[in-house]
Amino acid sequence: MTSRISLKAAAKINLYLEITGNRPDGYHDLVMILQSIDLCDRVDIRKIGTDQIQVSCTNSEVPCDRTNLAYKAAALMQSVYPEIGGMEIAIDKQIPMGAGLAGGSANAAAVLVGIDRLWDLGLTQSQLCDFAAQLGSDIPFCVVGGTALATGRGDILSPLPDIKDLVLVICKPRKIAISTPWAYQTFRSHGLLANNPARHQNLSSQMVAAIAAGDASTPAKIGRLLYNDLERAVLPEYPELVALENKLLEQECLGAMMSGSGSTMFAIAADLDSAKRIAEAVKTNEIDVWVVKSLVRSIFDA
Ligand code: C5P
Repeated sequence: MTSRISLKAAAKINLYLEITGNRPDGYHDLVMILQSIDLCDRVDIRKIGTDQIQVSCTNSEVPCDRTNLAYKAAALMQSVYPEIGGMEIAIDKQIPMGAGLAGGSANAAAVLVGIDRLWDLGLTQSQLCDFAAQLGSDIPFCVVGGTALATGRGDILSPLPDIKDLVLVICKPRKIAISTPWAYQTFRSHGLLANNPARHQNLSSQMVAAIAAGDASTPAKIGRLLYNDLERAVLPEYPELVALENKLLEQECLGAMMSGSGSTMFAIAADLDSAKRIAEAVKTNEIDVWVVKSLVRSIFDA
């Protein structure tokens, strides 16, 4: 009987994030286009003889207690399937925290998928997504991966055609970690919903059409249509991020933007050589930089 499983869990970026409404539960209605990227954590799950859930992480800044989303995912599965026993969850962290890259959500998604496989529960993707939505808005996407349109809280997914080999430069300022609740709260308290520059241009439909076309011009079209409402809340408070975005835009990139609530800024590059040049130009001691490609899935055997 298998007693352990090792999975890779991919980060995501937002190619598009439009806030379309305030919800009474404090959340926001969203239209997002999400993309898995080849920046992955490894999540190892091992069955143990007790009912305990033990989480460890190579990044000492990650809390490994009950607040960790991977722990919460395991606890949720134990509550629904009491026959599954305890487990050790070891996270090898590559995805930065407070980055807008859904690192914690990716770990939780890997735990859901890993438990399903390890205990042979035979869950469908839709059942896994129902569990995922109970844990966090981004987690259903982290179960499914690839390219998707997300609406509602971000948990209602429609798959989009794969964007193969989109080349990206991912930049994370080391000293800036942004709280997602703070970003949304700032957006709401500043009344930014009222003057949404994307609404009248139907930008999300234009981007969906560009992705559906799936031809050589798709990356350039996506680059021109990048949109993130949370920039309007976050960037006024973080001039360093404005400077980083401007520096990316000064390079020969197809577009640059903040991912999610930040602090990651990314650029779309025309090809790998161009991406490497952009990465060299923006890299400093203060900014971690990765050149990555888009992925068509989010959870892999490690
Ligand atoms: O769902 P999740 O716990 O990942 O969301 C983190 C925070 O992001 C929420 O507490 C909320 O402040 C904000 N959020 C939101 N509207 C959404 C998704 C997230 O306001 N649709």
